[in-house]
Amino acid sequence: MSDALARLRELPRVPLAHLPTRMEAMPRLGAHLGLAGLHVKRDDTTGLGLGGNKVRKLEFDLAAALAAEADCVVCGGVVQSNTARQVAAACAKLGIECHLGIMRGRLARTEPGYEETGNILLDRLYGAVIHDIPWDEDRNRRLRLIVEELRAAGRRPYLVPYGASDALGAMGYVLAAEEIVRDCPDVAWIVHGSGSAGTQAGLVAGLLALGHPARVIGIDVDAQPERVEADVCRVGREAAGLLGVGDRWSDELVEVAVGWSAGAYGQADATTEEAIRLAARLEALALDPVYSGKGMAGLIGLARAGRFAAGGPVVWIHTGGSPGIFAYPETMARLSA
Ligand SMILES: Cc1ncc(COP(=O)(O)O)c(C=O)c1O
Repeated sequence: MSDALARLRELPRVPLAHLPTRMEAMPRLGAHLGLAGLHVKRDDTTGLGLGGNKVRKLEFDLAAALAAEADCVVCGGVVQSNTARQVAAACAKLGIECHLGIMRGRLARTEPGYEETGNILLDRLYGAVIHDIPWDEDRNRRLRLIVEELRAAGRRPYLVPYGASDALGAMGYVLAAEEIVRDCPDVAWIVHGSGSAGTQAGLVAGLLALGHPARVIGIDVDAQPERVEADVCRVGREAAGLLGVGDRWSDELVEVAVGWSAGAYGQADATTEEAIRLAARLEALALDPVYSGKGMAGLIGLARAGRFAAGGPVVWIHTGGSPGIFAYPETMARLSA
């Protein structure tokens, strides 16, 4: 039998994640929303360094760093970046020096502890070298400056882009699509929080290569839906090209749903808080206010709007982010009361 993902299997890959992650039924949340076949794909349990969606992507990005004989890796993100934390953990595991550009100032308001606990605490614990840099809408510009400085000092740095969202990183989510289809062959909808775009790009490209008709709905968590959609289209098209199905790519495969970002990256609103509370009390899932809480708010909002009324199983992906919970003590205390 021919293998639709044969090209992917030839790419260098370093094992980092606990795979496959589990697919679990969510009967109590499903009953609450009137969805019979609601499941959660537990990508919060990818294992390495407290897990999350980036570990899958890094199996490909860091294999490329090793193949390039890099002596250090550069990545970055905001203070509570889950990507930065997972890159720091992966570098510790692989014995490569990790340089993180930690961007200050993206959020208008932060809660006590935001600057020192949660992900940033783990970045330091895993031994990353922290470079304090300002937030820049061109997310990779200042990371490239760190690369240039290291090169000028005689080092061989490898840049993992913001969110590990390049076509190579997206391959991690092509494999996630394969796992989802294996566990739930008649899946009709896949829903998750979307930001730097690699997760959604990989899922859409993967389903295309597998010839599966499930629809992926990315929930905008960044309050920048046009930017997110454009990035998913760009990375997805490149990922489809890597898989050898670039001629079948269409931007119409990409859907980014708007309305659950609380109006700003890194801030929660009443819909985020309701989603976190429901997921915790009905399914014992711990969601954060920045990513998974908004992804869940989107699932709930779409279900209530009748989006899944045509039937068919819905798979929601828990993309991780739990360390971020501890950087939002006021929000979490309010919704735990
Ligand atoms: C917990 C979590 N969920 C979802 C996302 C969004 O994934 P992507 O950046 O691949 O769109 C991120 C990105 O940082 C994340 O950390």
